[in-house]
Amino acid sequence: MSNDHMTLTETSKLLLHDKEYELPTITGSEGEVGIDITQLRNKSGAITFDSGYGNTGSCESAITFIDGEKGILRYRGYPIEELAEKSNFVEVSFLLIFGHLPNKAELEKFHFDLTHHSLIHEDMKKFFEGFPPTAHPMGILSAMVSSLSAFYPEAGYNADIKLNIVRLLAKLKTIAAFSYKKSIGQPYVYPRNDLNYAADMLHMMFAVPSESYEVPNVVAEALDLLLILHADHEQNCSTSTVRMVGSSEANLFASISAGICALWGPLHGGANQQVIEMLEKIKNDGSDYKKYINMAKDKESKFKLMGFGHRVYKNFDPRAQILKKSADKVLNQLGVNDPLLDIAKNLEEVALKDPFFIERKLYPNVDFYSGIIYRAMGIPTNMFTVMFALGRLPGWIAQWKEMRETPGARIYRPRQIYVGETKRPYVSIDKRK
Ligand code: SDX
Repeated sequence: MSNDHMTLTETSKLLLHDKEYELPTITGSEGEVGIDITQLRNKSGAITFDSGYGNTGSCESAITFIDGEKGILRYRGYPIEELAEKSNFVEVSFLLIFGHLPNKAELEKFHFDLTHHSLIHEDMKKFFEGFPPTAHPMGILSAMVSSLSAFYPEAGYNADIKLNIVRLLAKLKTIAAFSYKKSIGQPYVYPRNDLNYAADMLHMMFAVPSESYEVPNVVAEALDLLLILHADHEQNCSTSTVRMVGSSEANLFASISAGICALWGPLHGGANQQVIEMLEKIKNDGSDYKKYINMAKDKESKFKLMGFGHRVYKNFDPRAQILKKSADKVLNQLGVNDPLLDIAKNLEEVALKDPFFIERKLYPNVDFYSGIIYRAMGIPTNMFTVMFALGRLPGWIAQWKEMRETPGARIYRPRQIYVGETKRPYVSIDKRK
């Protein structure tokens, strides 16, 4: 990646064991300052320690910018609010991966390619048969993506990246839809070339061979918006996983499969499923949302308000604000009156006035309202994180590609502070207690 926007500024001084070390500092295009510790261990023998990497930059990136204090999110410099209003998921995918908004010819070619690579090899259908009906779609998704490397063995780290990017973007929605059909015991519905990305995904999920199914515009538009809002989010847990796996020169499919597994966790992409399950629990408990607010404040309860809090956003998650408005609009247009939306709004209203949440800067994140929209669209709860993965795919690909194109990119290999036993002799079994 070019260092157009990264500048070396003044150095920092570190005093360790009465010895002073000078460390270069780098400043990004938005003024973020990083202390470059690449040579720290060579110079001082010491490493830094940062559990959870909350204060550590793993790379320089030109893809997504987040300002957690100001609630700013931009893809390649374009504000998420503008992209949400004016763009579409295929165009945003091109922007994230190739770094610029496509011109008419580029967009038509990209859309054509995604449309004409959406089938999966018929032999892959046999893999679905091996999963029990109760298999979670995220486990299926990760396994199927990894298996793509068996069908495209030439998709190695140094292969024709553009063709494999198109294959993955085009096939992931087919794999996702097929895993849904498998889970409900219905026949697969194949991709249709006359539908756009979001409409085709919904058609493959909800059409049945016995009758024609017209995807409602409002639902297709809502899914396209959700996919845009989830498309990238700089170095989050799953994206860092994709970079970590890709840094060993593993192929694109293997790297993305690992990212899907990281996203599955309830603290990350799995939160959207947990939010709905939490709201349903509150509804079934007399909609007593204040009781759950108090549980979230009580450490002993181990209860977390799912969909609240964020490592970076310490004011508001701009995606949550957009989704809150979209939830009202989509439910009204669909004539859906979901009591879970009222419970969510009540939780947000009370939490935002409560010192516990204010002090810890806990606000609704992208997962807090997304599930209510997915639900209104008829998407089952166990498919919510799959929809997140579908949206995040272009971001994962863009980050993997950027890492691969960074001159001198090295395999990720953090250090540790060892706190185990010091040297001790082996004890034979007869002498052990
Ligand atoms: C995503 O990184 C990304 O960009 C992720 C994402 C993306 O687009 O890729 O934005 C998508 O993963 C959104 C987050 C979805 N997860 C959830 O909604 C799960 C609930 N949230 C939490 O688990 C938590 O807030 C995290 C995981 C999101 C952030 O964890 P941090 O930064 O490690 O914060 P923390 O756990 O150290 O919490 C700080 C304090 C703690 O209290 P104290 O020990 O200081 O007293 O806040 C408390 C936590 O107990 N806290 C919560 C809480 N989240 C944090 N208390 C109650 N409910 C919560 N949800």
